Amino acid sequence: MTSIQIDRRLPDRFFEASLRADALAGLTATPKSLPPKWFYDERGSELFDKITRLDEYYPTRAEREILAAAAAEIATATRAATLVELGSGTADKTRLLLDALRDGGTLSSYVPVDVSESALVTAASRMLKRYPGLQVQAVLSDFTERLGLPEAGGARLIVFLGGTIGNLLPAERAAFLISLRARLRPGDALLLGTDLVKDPAVLVAAYDDPAGVTGEFNKNILRVLNAELGGNFDLDEFEHVAVWDAEAEWIEMRLRSAVDQTVLLPAIELRVPFSAGEEMRTEISAKFRREGVAAELAAAGLELRSWWTDSQARFGLSLSVPA
Ligand code: SAH
Ligand code: TRP
Repeated sequence: MTSIQIDRRLPDRFFEASLRADALAGLTATPKSLPPKWFYDERGSELFDKITRLDEYYPTRAEREILAAAAAEIATATRAATLVELGSGTADKTRLLLDALRDGGTLSSYVPVDVSESALVTAASRMLKRYPGLQVQAVLSDFTERLGLPEAGGARLIVFLGGTIGNLLPAERAAFLISLRARLRPGDALLLGTDLVKDPAVLVAAYDDPAGVTGEFNKNILRVLNAELGGNFDLDEFEHVAVWDAEAEWIEMRLRSAVDQTVLLPAIELRVPFSAGEEMRTEISAKFRREGVAAELAAAGLELRSWWTDSQARFGLSLSVPA
């Protein structure tokens, strides 16, 4: 087996330090909240992969349908030598793009960027095996802190799939796009996947499946806190909640305390009281409209060049370039 070199872009102990800071800030706030990047330890990445195969979770299939139809056009339009993928996960759909860039004769390197080391190694190994001669540079980073764009020559296509941008709050999204734009050069492009506003019943089902996989994924953040901070969250005393916020146009994932309880996190010397019924936000998943995506891109100095949706208009994929 070929071994994967992981390029660690963050300062030593960044993950430990930021998990502590996030837990302390989030668990002492009113209402309580936790940032979603902490879902993704090895188990969390596996659970997310399972979510993508649920009947109710349509975004993965919808985005794959778009990529299958548009990949050749994207390859022709960008002539990218380097594909940088933010939040790459298992990078399953990415093969459609890599195939098209290879067939177009421009592809030379693939750079997956993720906070999950296990997901990164899996994705990088698969690509090395599938594309002989491809340079693969795996970057372990937090894309809200350090983007990890390689300096490599040639046109770069930055791809950010899965609707993950919707997991950032609006102000974080704006800051993220501005920092990304600042690092793009003429000839680079951004391919961005955004889930679209639709019937709330369809949306809620995608985030609250009857088999309970999403609930398990949501609660995984408590396991991460237990493992990393010596916490004693009892997963059975929290319930998974997914609600549609019609005004903000996002799905909000929460964990609701079933009882009055106090949780201890010795590593940060914290006692966290929860009252029965109290809800803590663990993630938002914003849903978009084409005009909104174009406006957010424009505000960051990016110009929308192409827009595709799947046949049922559930998911949108945009290609934009520095304005
Ligand atoms: N792109 C894949 C996976 C989406 S799940 C798909 O479309 O199916 C979101 C991915 O982003 C996970 O692999 C998670 O580990 C990663 N991620 C979440 N927050 C991140 C952050 N702040 N920095 C880097 N990666 C992050
Ligand atoms: N990026 C995914 C999304 O917003 C993440 C996700 C899917 C998720 N299902 C979830 C996060 C359930 C927490 C709970 O669609």
